[in-house]
Amino acid sequence: MILVTGGAGYIGSHVCIALLDAGLDVVVVDNLSNSTKASLDRVQSICGRSLVFRHADIRDEEVICEILRDFGVTAVIHLAGLKAVGDSNVRPMTYYENNVLGTMRLVSAMKTANVKTLVFSSSATVYGIPRYLPLDERHPLAPTNPYGRTKLVIEQMLNDLYRSDDSWRIANLRYFNPAGAHESGLIGEDPLGVPSNLLPFVAQVAIGRREKLRIWGGDYDTPDGTGIRDFIHVVDLAAGHLSALRQLRQPGLLTVNLGTGYGNSVLDVVRTFEAASGRSVPYEIVERRAGDVAACYADPTFAKDVLSWTSTRSLRQMCADHWRWQLQNPNGFRAGELPKAPERSSHLRRHA
Ligand code: NAD
Ligand code: WQD
Repeated sequence: MILVTGGAGYIGSHVCIALLDAGLDVVVVDNLSNSTKASLDRVQSICGRSLVFRHADIRDEEVICEILRDFGVTAVIHLAGLKAVGDSNVRPMTYYENNVLGTMRLVSAMKTANVKTLVFSSSATVYGIPRYLPLDERHPLAPTNPYGRTKLVIEQMLNDLYRSDDSWRIANLRYFNPAGAHESGLIGEDPLGVPSNLLPFVAQVAIGRREKLRIWGGDYDTPDGTGIRDFIHVVDLAAGHLSALRQLRQPGLLTVNLGTGYGNSVLDVVRTFEAASGRSVPYEIVERRAGDVAACYADPTFAKDVLSWTSTRSLRQMCADHWRWQLQNPNGFRAGELPKAPERSSHLRRHA
């Protein structure tokens, strides 16, 4: 049985599909602070298999310990965390408490229950401003915001844990820019309020929920002047977790980039999304966004060598799959699902 923390979220729900499809049993712990259980209902209908869901917080060490023991968990995939860069500048302590303290409590529960295999969702944000490209795992680490620093602190904590006891099996997976959705169109990214990430914003413009995309900067030192990122299909990313679990059949600590190795510009994304959706995506080029870098993409060689993993899906497929999800679920998971009238109206306001 695999415990997936944060399994109701965007990446976690795709990881659950990869695990269930591989014949593994899954228990999800999620506090639903940024997700709904509807995603897991859909996961189960996609896979034709059930999973166990526990509405709990990773900071609740006793509950986590009980779950580890009750379900005979053998490995944990730890995705639970807060992830909004801007928000982390406004309330940094909330990020440290949720992400760092949450991971400390989780690891402590794992020690008590003698579960020593952990796959952790880290981020390319730990590299900070690239000194060279593509980014390999030896690149210096200097995150530029509190969110990124929580990821780095956690990686360092896990490295120290492994140094103190090498019977642990730990993989720090540094994701680049996850995008796209499951090909069924049943699950995908469902941001609350105004999306800060590119793909969800573009999709909402394409479907007419927002008037136009604002492109943050057209004067970068890149071929078309807009920022370049390494967009990776979320289904490829999810497969990377299975590869990591396989590799952790033997003790060890791995820190691995999960990216494609290709950079695409913001304008590439706009054009590819237009082609995939058949809709137009009006845009305006405005000032750069504080904290953005011109270009960021992975050297994925180590993942290939050590995990035998590579991404296979193109930007075109990410856009097509994201579009299918957007079209079938114009208001995300929440629309059909919700409870009492007052909550529902406040919910709808957030999506207006
Ligand atoms: P998400 O918000 O969709 O998923 C995170 C899930 O964790 C949510 O379901 C949320 O309810 C849950 N959660 C948060 N705090 C919790 C807690 N204390 N206890 C239990 N559950 C909790 O985000 P995502 O995009 O799926 O990201 C998953 C992980 O990957 C995060 O750790 C994130 O930092 C990391 N990551 C994401 C990206 C990205 O661009 N999406 C890139 C790199 C790394
Ligand atoms: C991509 C490009 C923007 C929105 C963030 C986090 C990072 C990681 C992934 C978690 C940039 C441009 C965007 C818009 C735009 N998350 N853009 N208009 O900033 O590379 O990475 O998500 O670990 O930590 O920082 O992703 O999707 O926000 O931006 O022009 O409305 O799209 O300027 O060039 P980013 P993003």
